[in-house]
Amino acid sequence: MMKNNSSWMGPAIVVFAIAAIVGSCAVLGVAPSEISGQRLFSFPGDWEKIPAKTVTVFYPGQTSWQYLTSAAHPGAQAIDAGCATCHAGQEKALGAKSVQAGPRETDPIDGKPPSLDLTVRAAYDAEFVYFQFRWPTKVPHPVHTLWRYDGKQWVAWGGPKPDASKKGIPPSYEDRLAILLDDPNNVTAYDGSGATFSQVGCWMTCHSSMRAMPKDVPRKAIDPHPYWGEKGRRVGDIRKYLLITRTAQDDSGAWDKVKPAEELNKLKSAGKYLDLWQWRAARSNAVGYASDDWVLEYRNGDAGRSPFFNPPKPQFMYDEKLTGFRAIPESDLATHMGKAALIEKKTAVALDPNAKFAVGDLLPQYLQREPEGSAGDIQAYGRYVDGHWVVELRRKLNTGNADDKVLRPGTAYPIGFGIFDDAVSNRRHYVTLPMTLGLGVKGDITAVKVGP
Ligand code: HEC
Repeated sequence: MMKNNSSWMGPAIVVFAIAAIVGSCAVLGVAPSEISGQRLFSFPGDWEKIPAKTVTVFYPGQTSWQYLTSAAHPGAQAIDAGCATCHAGQEKALGAKSVQAGPRETDPIDGKPPSLDLTVRAAYDAEFVYFQFRWPTKVPHPVHTLWRYDGKQWVAWGGPKPDASKKGIPPSYEDRLAILLDDPNNVTAYDGSGATFSQVGCWMTCHSSMRAMPKDVPRKAIDPHPYWGEKGRRVGDIRKYLLITRTAQDDSGAWDKVKPAEELNKLKSAGKYLDLWQWRAARSNAVGYASDDWVLEYRNGDAGRSPFFNPPKPQFMYDEKLTGFRAIPESDLATHMGKAALIEKKTAVALDPNAKFAVGDLLPQYLQREPEGSAGDIQAYGRYVDGHWVVELRRKLNTGNADDKVLRPGTAYPIGFGIFDDAVSNRRHYVTLPMTLGLGVKGDITAVKVGP
């Protein structure tokens, strides 16, 4: 097996190494059988000795909070009791229902498995919490949206299933692992609700107004909005949010009814937000991190500099001296993307206007970079091996930053996981019912003490 420190890129640079070649894909070339990100830390214990919990993550379709609290959902009246009260052990069945065409899925993906098994291990020492996740993936996607050279110019290419496939473009969208967590019995589902994140989990963040949901808000409605639009935060779409940030509720999820800024600030300083960690196969793994976010009125990034950025036009290409190529030939996407990520100040150089490109040459739209500040709190090491992603995370128990939850041993924290598999985005992930992470105390997942 080749190690991930190929000399052509230097040991400090990431490096997706290919060991043996298995499988093939007519359009994308041959997928790598082994991929490895950069390892910035080591686990001070032995993962094999840490108890493993297998969690079924399932496909939710368009199951929004508005659906769950409507008369159409038989659990609506007793929602405060928590999803697990009625649905524990039903994950596979719920996924099987939601993955097919039906009221919760208007646009199914052919052959999408309804659920998958995620193995979770967790531990902590005096300073850090550690996780190890393992889940099966047939074809890894360490690749996100692309630019394609058409002979005259670079055009946007790739993107998630099923949208890309419908346009006749080979899908390319990164694999991802997401974690949402809160303090016990803290954030309520809406003002006056009897349910917190402990009972209803990630579902409280999922609304009909969000992109690819039943009442997805069009750009022409967002742009004139004082908070979201051109004179405000200038968002292109609506993402995860908490209803405690809204002045009222409606059947879209009150996307436009945002409380005034001073009230949002009060909620933030009172810790009424959710912490969101996202390991990204194409936008953080190569530099050895996960992105660090938090959810309040929107899915916000932590302060500082995130591990990725995307210039509006192609501005970078691969440093041929390091990688052996300037761009990725279309016929060979999977193979090349497994070999090298486009990393600021490492494998990336400015796009040379005189460089020759062939029709079909591809470049990643996103570059990875060393994150800074609170946005760089979560280190990650992800490998694709034996048909599985194996992702380790490490974060300080207390980062000292205002956009992170403090984790205290002796406490069981409500937590939820999401897995994005097979080139999908937004709602087309697999999710969990609400769960707990016990730090040295019993939880659905129990993190055990290691080291001093
Ligand atoms: C008081 C019991 C109860 C609670 C609490 C409850 N549910 Fe349900 N839920 C049901 C029942 C009963 C059904 C109908 C099952 C069926 O049709 O097989 C259902 C159906 C569903 C479905 C399938 C919807 C469809 O397409 O038909 C989903 C998804 C679901 N619930 C998710 C949740 C989630 C997430 C929560 C927590 C936020 C939750 N439920 C809380 C009882 C409950």
